[in-house]
Amino acid sequence: MSAQRSEQRLRLALLALLALALLAGCGRNMAEQPRLGPLQESPFFPDRSGSLPLVEGTVSRERGAIDPVFFTGTRAGALVTELPVELTLALVQRGQERYDIFCAMCHGYTGDGDGMIVRRGFPRPVSFHEQRLLDASVGYYFSAMTNGFGRMYPYASRIPAEDRWAIAAYVKALQLSQNATVDDVPADVRRALELGTSEGRAPR
Ligand code: HEC
Repeated sequence: MSAQRSEQRLRLALLALLALALLAGCGRNMAEQPRLGPLQESPFFPDRSGSLPLVEGTVSRERGAIDPVFFTGTRAGALVTELPVELTLALVQRGQERYDIFCAMCHGYTGDGDGMIVRRGFPRPVSFHEQRLLDASVGYYFSAMTNGFGRMYPYASRIPAEDRWAIAAYVKALQLSQNATVDDVPADVRRALELGTSEGRAPR
């Protein structure tokens, strides 16, 4: 056997040893540690509970816990007519994106109620441009999504409250878009539109 070959063998053997040493470190003992599930019994604390009680005066950081309007869309049992979140372009754009994902397949991209699923035979919802729904408050839309409406299932578990408000704001904007006149367009935006620049276009 030549000296070169035995050197090669030695190198291979060393590599194999190194790989073995590395693999030995790959146990699952980090993943499999003793742990307690929520509210499970534990001998560690005097009250034998695995979960310590909350410190007195703890406030939930979930918004709905401190602002029921945000969570229910109602104040003293009546549907709210104002958004409980700030109305910004970003909110309406988020609403448009979420509406196109969660609602358009039935209610249609313009809210006419002729979405693709309806065209394939699903019951047709009333158009958002009917007078009754034009008059409906933003809280009405939030509530319909949160609690469901007739044959439409609720969305509370699928769409977070913040996004339900964004969608409700977008539906109101959608209604305006189908019923607006040129006079409703702010003067500076109208000028941009007349000049044919992209500035005045709704971003998509
Ligand atoms: C699978 C189809 C479908 C999807 C998706 C859907 N809806 Fe509906 N929606 C309906 C139908 C059908 C009705 C009418 C139900 C009835 O009258 O029994 C309805 C009713 C409504 C109503 C009440 C209208 C009225 O007549 O007062 C509102 C508001 C509404 N939907 C909003 C939404 C929003 C917002 C979304 C998206 C988050 C959404 N829907 C997603 C099918 C759908």
